[in-house]
Amino acid sequence: MATIIDGVKLAAEVREQAAGAVRELAAQGVTPSLAVVLVGDDPASASYVRMKERDCAEVGIDSRDLRLAATTSQHELDTLIDSLNADPSIHGILVQMPLPSHLDAESVIARIAPEKDVDGFHPESLGRLVRGLPGFRACTPAGVMEMLRAYDIDPTGMNAVVVGRSTIVGKPMALLLLEANATVTVCHSRTRDLASVCRGADLLVAAIGRPEMIDATYVKPGAVVIDVGINRTDHGMVGDVDYAAVEPIASAITPVPGGVGPMTRALLMRNTVAAARAASGR
Ligand code: GUN
Repeated sequence: MATIIDGVKLAAEVREQAAGAVRELAAQGVTPSLAVVLVGDDPASASYVRMKERDCAEVGIDSRDLRLAATTSQHELDTLIDSLNADPSIHGILVQMPLPSHLDAESVIARIAPEKDVDGFHPESLGRLVRGLPGFRACTPAGVMEMLRAYDIDPTGMNAVVVGRSTIVGKPMALLLLEANATVTVCHSRTRDLASVCRGADLLVAAIGRPEMIDATYVKPGAVVIDVGINRTDHGMVGDVDYAAVEPIASAITPVPGGVGPMTRALLMRNTVAAARAASGR
């Protein structure tokens, strides 16, 4: 029987902290604001954006909803980013990924002013993470670290295995765990004998994007299992972990839904408040 790491409850706490900071800023005449840019009409992206905007409303962040047609050109998107960068009433800029394939996501991310990069995707933010300098951390891995802290799970000395090497999750997750003194292994599609590497993990983070791939044969009894996967299947939303099989042997586990997802959005709120605070010199 594992401890169920409750992302819904924890995310509500993080949002409440952010709301408190928003009230303090409001007393000084500052309303944090987040520009949310969605290009095209991918239903999953549209649903994520809706949830982010709902969280903004709850916390008191002014979200500016910028929906662009799927046919938007690189030049049009660049021009929009430039105008958001130059607008002092905007504190954070989020461009929902993935972008339609004719657009160059890397150049869009690099164009966002680093001080408004609340997603933590900009090369400067990632470079700061690598160097151990303060800066915006990507929301999903930062949310995972917050979950570990809240449940008194100290990664120090643990063998942490991260499955997935994306720039959004896997790489920054590995760096944050390293910063927290774990011994970190990053696995990916070319890793030999993935199950046996995973079985060496005291802390296993699954960020692969394959429904329920991590079954009991990948998990050491007593391991902490963090499931970053959000997979839409015919039988609903499932994670990368076969929850029914793994929960009985893990010491702690995040459910899907109700685990990492809400924490990602809560950390976006925290980052946006931090951007507003920094911009207003508070
Ligand atoms: N697509 C999937 N996750 C994210 C995220 O955290 N931020 C943005 N902007 N796009 C995403």
